[in-house]
Amino acid sequence: MLEQLNEKDFGTPRRISEQEVTLEIDGMQVTVAAGTSIMRAAAEGGVNVPKLCATDSLEPFGSCRLCLVEIEGRKGYPASCTTPAEQGMKVRTQSPRLQALRKGVMELYISDHPLDCLTCAANGNCELQDMAGVTGLREVRYGYEGENHLDSKKDESNPYFTYDASKCIVCNRCVRACEETQGTYALTISGRGFESRVSPGQDQPFMDSECVSCGACIQACPTATLQEKTVIEMGQAEHSVVTTCAYCGVGCSFRAEMKGNEVVRMVPAKDGQANEGHSCVKGRFAWGYATHQDRILKPMIRAKITDPWQEVSWDEALNHAASEFRRIQKKYGRDSIGGIVSSRCTNEEGYLVQKLVRTAFGNNNVDTCARVCHSPTGYGLKQTLGESAGTQTFKSVEHSDVILVIGANPTDAHPVFASRMKKRLREGAKLIVIDPRHIDLVRSPHVQADFHLPLKPGTNVAMLSSLAHVIVTEGLMATDFIAQRCEDKAFRQWRDFVALPENSPEAMQDITGVDAGLVRGAARLFATGGNAAIYYGLGVTEHAQGSTAVMGIANLAMATGNIGREGVGVNPLRGQNNVQGSCDIGSFPHELPGYRHVSDSTTRHLFEQAWGVEIQPEPGLRIPNMFDAALDGSFKGLYCQGEDIVQSDPNTQHVTAALAAMECIVVQDIFMNETAMYAHVFLPGSSFLEKDGTFTNAERRISRVRKVMPPKAGYADWEVTVQLSNRLGYRMDYAHPSGIMDEIARMTPTFHGVSFEKIDQLGSIQWPCNDEAPLGTPIMHVDQFVRGKGKFIITKYVATDEKVTRKFPLILTTGRILSQYNVGAQTRRTENVQWHEQDLLEIHPHDAEERGIRDGGWVSIQSRAGDTVLRAKLSERMQPGVVYTTFHFPESGANVITTENSDWATNCPEYKVTAVQVMPVTEPSEWQKKYTRFSKVQHALLGKAASPVKDKSIA
Ligand code: SF4
Ligand code: SF4
Ligand code: SF4
Ligand code: FES
Repeated sequence: MLEQLNEKDFGTPRRISEQEVTLEIDGMQVTVAAGTSIMRAAAEGGVNVPKLCATDSLEPFGSCRLCLVEIEGRKGYPASCTTPAEQGMKVRTQSPRLQALRKGVMELYISDHPLDCLTCAANGNCELQDMAGVTGLREVRYGYEGENHLDSKKDESNPYFTYDASKCIVCNRCVRACEETQGTYALTISGRGFESRVSPGQDQPFMDSECVSCGACIQACPTATLQEKTVIEMGQAEHSVVTTCAYCGVGCSFRAEMKGNEVVRMVPAKDGQANEGHSCVKGRFAWGYATHQDRILKPMIRAKITDPWQEVSWDEALNHAASEFRRIQKKYGRDSIGGIVSSRCTNEEGYLVQKLVRTAFGNNNVDTCARVCHSPTGYGLKQTLGESAGTQTFKSVEHSDVILVIGANPTDAHPVFASRMKKRLREGAKLIVIDPRHIDLVRSPHVQADFHLPLKPGTNVAMLSSLAHVIVTEGLMATDFIAQRCEDKAFRQWRDFVALPENSPEAMQDITGVDAGLVRGAARLFATGGNAAIYYGLGVTEHAQGSTAVMGIANLAMATGNIGREGVGVNPLRGQNNVQGSCDIGSFPHELPGYRHVSDSTTRHLFEQAWGVEIQPEPGLRIPNMFDAALDGSFKGLYCQGEDIVQSDPNTQHVTAALAAMECIVVQDIFMNETAMYAHVFLPGSSFLEKDGTFTNAERRISRVRKVMPPKAGYADWEVTVQLSNRLGYRMDYAHPSGIMDEIARMTPTFHGVSFEKIDQLGSIQWPCNDEAPLGTPIMHVDQFVRGKGKFIITKYVATDEKVTRKFPLILTTGRILSQYNVGAQTRRTENVQWHEQDLLEIHPHDAEERGIRDGGWVSIQSRAGDTVLRAKLSERMQPGVVYTTFHFPESGANVITTENSDWATNCPEYKVTAVQVMPVTEPSEWQKKYTRFSKVQHALLGKAASPVKDKSIA
């Protein structure tokens, strides 16, 4: 689906109003919503008024005076961008006088602008150039010799874009984009009059300022002042293809602007329903990994992990993998092998992997990385509300009056949604943050949390119960909602439970560490402040009581009637781009597509009929069970597509011991990742730019992934799975991923109405999409819950087994940072390392001082599971007693220290709570030394010098 390179710019944002006005523009009748600017009304009617400071993603500013119009009966020449259309108005956009005025404006701009259009990076895509043409500028009467800015210095500090002040027309669009769209307030116009210039921070280079490289200012800039370096190097693109970002669960839509098969730049799509034209540094700029020299493009095999890799043909690799899997099953039994579905791959690819396991392997040993992130969401929301998914659209936050963020750090992990949320907060919505750390949202420009409850890690359930206690005991419940919509008996049991004195904020204060008065205040605000929405992340799910906390969140939403309409709801902020989708399409060992249990004979029968095999009625192995079984000697073979379990799963030594005990590990990936170092077959994967398919984001929104270049290794991932299945003797036959989606839709009630064709028509679809909801379902549980009546569930706080002791007196919690992504395989291979080149241990200055730790010094972090060494960062964002790190670099070994404790219901690891001791040291840990040796050997066995990934974790 090729797109126009530039989307139409209507000049000012769309206004929504039930009232309409009709006016006449250049003799044409135009009807628009009240509040629409004359400029936009004209554009909607097909008349483009010249403009420079206006763009439809920003509120009008009225500074350039190029958009002047004549209005019958009015004096002067009002700016059409700032003048609202009125009923009966008669507007002229063209006249000799207007032409002369506009030409005069352009003359002034051009007299202080370099005349290097032919060699300028924006040539052919520059609004200033366009306006010079539109206004008929032929000469500049003032000449070019006067005082000017043509010698201004370029700022090239940012790895992705340049700022060339000589080309700036001071239209303010960038400043407004940074404020209105991104909410970072990194830019100002410094100086006055002729001296005025755009300035990041305090006249700093971009890289030293608050700028987070979201790209909104570049998008807004009408000239080449702010310009992508790739465009400077490669020139303007020639075509574009709309696709979906492959990083986080926001699921931003981008136009991949291309020259042949090369990406020139990624531009967030204005009509992208998840992002509405915004982006973050990862989606917009960090796509270079897709063509990085570390890509492995040839299939490889080896008998033992100590053998060198041997490049072979696709045929040989696939035949070898199939024969090994069959050999293992013959020797150790049907259940001795399994597969892992990637939440980074498409829905169609995930569906095929689980289908291969259930058909060709003949068991249910399939799992996905959602196991280690949001499996408690699936479980908890299914129990309480009846559906394993979030309830809203992202846009719904525009109607929220109170926003409760618990265990999530959206400005780092879900940045585009964070910008949307911050906009609503700037408009006056109230904010409650429940997080052990002082995350950015607690206080950032023009945003301040009304309540920050800095609880101790591992006490979410205690906190949620004490919030519920206040709501119940102070009579703040939505009694009508509960009576009509929820199971009465379960509600009464829950109400009586949370009302117990032991659940009061005062009683829980010692457990949570949060002042009871704050908890009471937050609970009152949540229950009485209007539309209240809850957003949560892995800080809720990755706990021993992860599922309990999710149910506690659903309880709170039901108790206050905050479900089933705009502005409210329960919103899990999903981590990976397709974690929702991989769960939807049956990647769990106990569920067939559409969250139907394998023990349900009707569902099983449906799939048995369609697939022509018998499906096992018992759930298969979860990922941690696969590891245990491998160490027991009963699990010997694994097909792992697009996941790096060695780096991402807890207790690394346990994982690597399990992998080392297996006989055939088939890794399908784009890079030689940590897991591939234990593999026997390597099947080259394809990046999101190389295939067709769909991703499903955190809003249940299914969006198209479109191929912009051919697969570098010859096949898209889905084609490889098809070929593997065929060699295993189970016939798969698909011409295109659309056929796979058609099969998913046929077999899954919530997907019945989904097809590629429909997604192309609608832009994207939020499931359920079927006969009852042919256009999809933006908001769930509107009149009744999916399970009929909502079910309150008692959420008793049980302290984690992971206790602090004298030996391990601190709690380690983990998270992400904006510039890096999860295991870092992609972002570490981009210039994003300039922001974060190693994982650091954040520690409160008091804890550091007690231990003689200095900022930037090496520290060892020891837990019951293992130890590792990182550099320390002293930070008052931490509370004393709690330390924090990210896990983006394999060498830092954050998961060497995390334990095997997990959620009672789903086995989701307790990444967020590990008791540790931290001490200054001078050298890497034993594990790190061993890792370095092993990694070097594995790269040598690869037979080519893989370029070292930039990492300063261990010197
Ligand atoms: S890139 Fe984003 S954060 Fe940086 S100055 Fe531009 S708009 Fe602001
Ligand atoms: S940098 Fe671009 S957007 Fe910003 S004021 Fe200058 S010309 Fe306008
Ligand atoms: S917010 Fe997420 S989906 Fe959007 S551009 Fe950033 S990483 Fe990609
Ligand atoms: S576009 Fe209206 S004043 Fe600049």
